[in-house]
Amino acid sequence: MKTLSKRTKLTYFGGLLLAAMSCTPLPEETASEASDKMYSIEEAFEIVAAENDVARTLYTKAIVGAGKKQGLKFHEDWEKDEVEAGPLPALFLRGIAGDIRKKGEVPLGLFLGSDFPVRKSNKFVGKQAELFAAIREDGKPKYFYDEENQLYTAMFPDFAAAAPCVNCHNEHPETTKTDWALGDIMGATTWTYPSDSVSFDELQGIIMAYRDGAAATFQTYLDKAAGFKESDVPAVGATWPVGGYSLPTPDVFLDSVNELASEKTLKGILKI
Ligand code: HEC
Repeated sequence: MKTLSKRTKLTYFGGLLLAAMSCTPLPEETASEASDKMYSIEEAFEIVAAENDVARTLYTKAIVGAGKKQGLKFHEDWEKDEVEAGPLPALFLRGIAGDIRKKGEVPLGLFLGSDFPVRKSNKFVGKQAELFAAIREDGKPKYFYDEENQLYTAMFPDFAAAAPCVNCHNEHPETTKTDWALGDIMGATTWTYPSDSVSFDELQGIIMAYRDGAAATFQTYLDKAAGFKESDVPAVGATWPVGGYSLPTPDVFLDSVNELASEKTLKGILKI
């Protein structure tokens, strides 16, 4: 069977959603109102944050963790010409955030910060620092309206989900903390959006902007890898690093994200 493309999958979600909605016949006006602004921004943030969790963990374990064992390198200066390396997980996320901002199709903001960051510019300040302190207490996401920037904001804890997270941070020369342990809350992803609710189309736009950003960032990594010195260029195709000195194509990577995230995303979309 042919694998469904990303867009087909979302259309498929849409079909399921409409099928679910059609169980309760509504008068026409109500139906069109119902299809408009039907998700609170909290619900939308939860869905995209869950996708991000999957993509980030997959990238950390299956690309960075497994890749290092094969001899692939990952570095904070990966974008420099003379450095033969791929993006660290945090920089993969920053690539996604940058792509969403650059394309400008969806007003979604994304930032990864901490109270004990490796990079000073990643330290939470102001309201976000206050809320991050509360996340440390209860481990739960926080939602608030940022008056200053007029943005609805959500912060989700970022857990040390894999050994490379802990090892690399503890050993980093600029780290502000050296005893991170597996499972710790190492920081939080902050998401922003200018309205308090979204339509199905807007929600779809948010999810697609994230997925497209992940695909574009992964492609930037592959483009960089293609320019490594000849003996260091990894094979690119269907094989993941666990199977050799190779990297999956963005489609193969994204298909796995979709498979792992779909059930949760679908439940979020259907509110079940
Ligand atoms: C190989 C090294 C490495 C690995 C693996 C790694 N990080 Fe990082 N991480 C960094 C570096 C370096 C930065 C700062 C990047 C920048 O902003 O320039 C960073 C940034 C961060 C930040 C933002 C705050 C800060 O410390 O600057 C968080 C939160 C974070 N990482 C959590 C994680 C988690 C969780 C994982 C595993 C899923 C992980 N990291 C894996 C090196 C690593």
